[in-house]
Amino acid sequence: MNKPLECIFPNPPTGVDPTLLDVDAVPRHVAVIMDGNGRWAKERGKNRLFGHKAGIDAVRETIRCASDLGVRYLTIYSFSSENWKRPQDEVIGLMNLFATTMLAEVDGLHEEHVRVMTIGRVDALPKKTRDAFAKAWEKTKDNDGMTLVVAVNYGGRQELLDALSSYMDDVHAALREGRAPEELSEEVLVRHLYTADIPDPDLLIRTSGEMRVSNFLLWQIAYSEFVCTEVLWPDFNRYELLRALLEFQGRDRRFGAVK
Ligand code: IPE
Ligand code: IPE
Ligand code: MG
Repeated sequence: MNKPLECIFPNPPTGVDPTLLDVDAVPRHVAVIMDGNGRWAKERGKNRLFGHKAGIDAVRETIRCASDLGVRYLTIYSFSSENWKRPQDEVIGLMNLFATTMLAEVDGLHEEHVRVMTIGRVDALPKKTRDAFAKAWEKTKDNDGMTLVVAVNYGGRQELLDALSSYMDDVHAALREGRAPEELSEEVLVRHLYTADIPDPDLLIRTSGEMRVSNFLLWQIAYSEFVCTEVLWPDFNRYELLRALLEFQGRDRRFGAVK
């Protein structure tokens, strides 16, 4: 942990007690499906983009809190491979929001020693958005603090297809050079995933009450603990993260064995 608990959680609401957190058992990797921005905006009579903009504050607070608690990897689902189906003005608005937010936040993230990376088919993003993520990666790549993994134009099925096709490239190269191709195993496949160097998530949080995975990290969440909250993403904050962490710490992870 990088800060005392009372500094990270200065004003806990009734019902959430930060002192119950076992600071030595914070999950190494937390993944978040940030959902509910559209409904949050609708409740206020605003357009969907208003909700996405409000969601940025929740992202900032979640990153800061996770980093302060010593979480090593935080993966945020920002845009799925299916989100292109949304109205064009929403998609364009989101792409612009990613670019401006990344450029505005990168210095602050760098000061916190956060390392920023992306997973997903980033090449298909508009140039401005791609460049902003590339700049954030370039600036922060040597940082040794928390790794922030932004899943953008990410689909779990696409990732598996890309991994298999990258494996097949290796097989064909080996055959061309007269070598025996590497046999396919879990370890080999994992090396071809976008998340090759990242441990699987211990905790997967989804906001807005939806109980589905929506094509997120299909391979990696095989044994992740799933915490679902009714809170809409723009209302998520450090205390909601704390609630999820406390619930996680109360779980019994068996990985198929008997305890
Ligand atoms: C999540 O909020 C953000 C993205 C998918 C980009 P939504 O936009 O899905 O909000 P709801 O689910 O419609 O409320
Ligand atoms: C999942 O949310 C994708 C992101 C949070 C980026 P969606 O709102 O797209 O998922 P569905 O459509 O409800 O399954
Ligand atoms: Mg949604």
